[in-house]
Amino acid sequence: PTRKMPPSASAMDFFQLFVPDNVLKSMVVQTNMYAKKFQERFGSDGAWVEVTLAEMKAFLGYVISTSVSHCESVLSIWSSGFYSNRSLALAMSQARFEKILKYFHVVAFRSSQATHGLYKVQPFLDSLQGSFEAAFRPSQTQVLHEPLIDEDPVFVATCTERELRKRKKRKFSLWVRQCSSTGFIVQIYVHLKEGGGPDSLDALKNKPQLHGMVARSLCRSAAGKNYIIFTGPSITSLTLFEEFEKQEIYCCGLLSSRKSDCTGLPPSMLTNPATPPARGQHQIKMKGNMSLICWYNKGHFRFLTNAYSPVQQGVIIKRRSGEVPCPLAVEAFAAHLSYICRYDDKYSRYFISHKPSKTWQQVFWFAISIAVNNAYILYKMSDAYHVKRYSRAQFGERLVRELLGLEDMSPAH
Ligand SMILES: *[C@@H]1O[C@H](CO)[C@@H](O)[C@H](O)[C@H]1NC(C)=O
Ligand SMILES: *[C@@H]1O[C@H](CO)[C@@H](O)[C@H](O)[C@H]1NC(C)=O
Repeated sequence: PTRKMPPSASAMDFFQLFVPDNVLKSMVVQTNMYAKKFQERFGSDGAWVEVTLAEMKAFLGYVISTSVSHCESVLSIWSSGFYSNRSLALAMSQARFEKILKYFHVVAFRSSQATHGLYKVQPFLDSLQGSFEAAFRPSQTQVLHEPLIDEDPVFVATCTERELRKRKKRKFSLWVRQCSSTGFIVQIYVHLKEGGGPDSLDALKNKPQLHGMVARSLCRSAAGKNYIIFTGPSITSLTLFEEFEKQEIYCCGLLSSRKSDCTGLPPSMLTNPATPPARGQHQIKMKGNMSLICWYNKGHFRFLTNAYSPVQQGVIIKRRSGEVPCPLAVEAFAAHLSYICRYDDKYSRYFISHKPSKTWQQVFWFAISIAVNNAYILYKMSDAYHVKRYSRAQFGERLVRELLGLEDMSPAH
């Protein structure tokens, strides 16, 4: 963390490192402006009064509460069903919440930008990005990947195939650059899949090409910092890694002959030999600082890296078969990958489950979910954690109550 937070810092204080009052105030202004324009066009809405900053916080709090309760409709809070929550419901009427939901906007409409499908949320994403970078310096090792954002892993494991198929397809994919020793998400990239206007990447049917573009975008602010970036097969490519090396960004990626762009790599290293080598054996080919490693462990695994010396030895420890020797690059890759899986297990279940139909709003709530997870990660590294030791779920509940104004926020408590 770049700044020290006091032991008395609240969940809200951590959240507001990323979504400060001035950003919330601009949501207030934009929502009121949109409501005005809407009524000028479609007739006045007698029940509407301008939204205030306190109400905007409560509005966010209600939607964020679905990340803890996992209910799919935020309106259930006011229902009499399983997800009803009287103590939350009392802070605002359902009718008022629905009015704010109807007019909710975060960015001013400008027809000149309307060609870009995310124009209704991009300036917010940019400000969030800036605050992520200002609040935290990531470790040297980072991962580029698509986090599991749609549901918590428990849901995926228990719901039927049909239930999964019935859910609406997302119109965008979300990619992140993530610090692999804390899980803090340093940078977000949203790719619109369709209807994104002329700027959309749809023309890029070629996946590695698209993923190369995603990677360049996610590493825009990573140049010259001596980072080591881990990548999956769809991103790993010699061209991209060489381009990154010029910017002093070093890489270690898994390669697959099916999913990766293998341009420039020696074909002899990409085909499996007729008789498999012994377990833990590897072959290396080098060009400059780049090495292509083919390692055998009941299957051929190929890695491309310029971040580790291929002659340095590492080891993979398997519960059943014990130690399997490997180059250090392979050990490092496995360690960082398993870190990210643990992050997905631990934090993906705290993504907001309320799903609006508009794509820009879905993107907005995913970004807010990431902001809350990042806030918790900073909280855990701060002195404030030693006071109350909130779990991620408790931190979420606490934040909701603070946003709703249900907690005494005076510094004396
Ligand atoms: C290898 O890396 C070093 C620094 O890490 C750099 O100075 C050198 O130019 C690189 N060599 C090649 C062939 O890219
Ligand atoms: C209502 O929601 C709050 C905040 O998420 C939570 O702390 C509380 O346990 C919930 N109450 C009930 C009855 O579910």
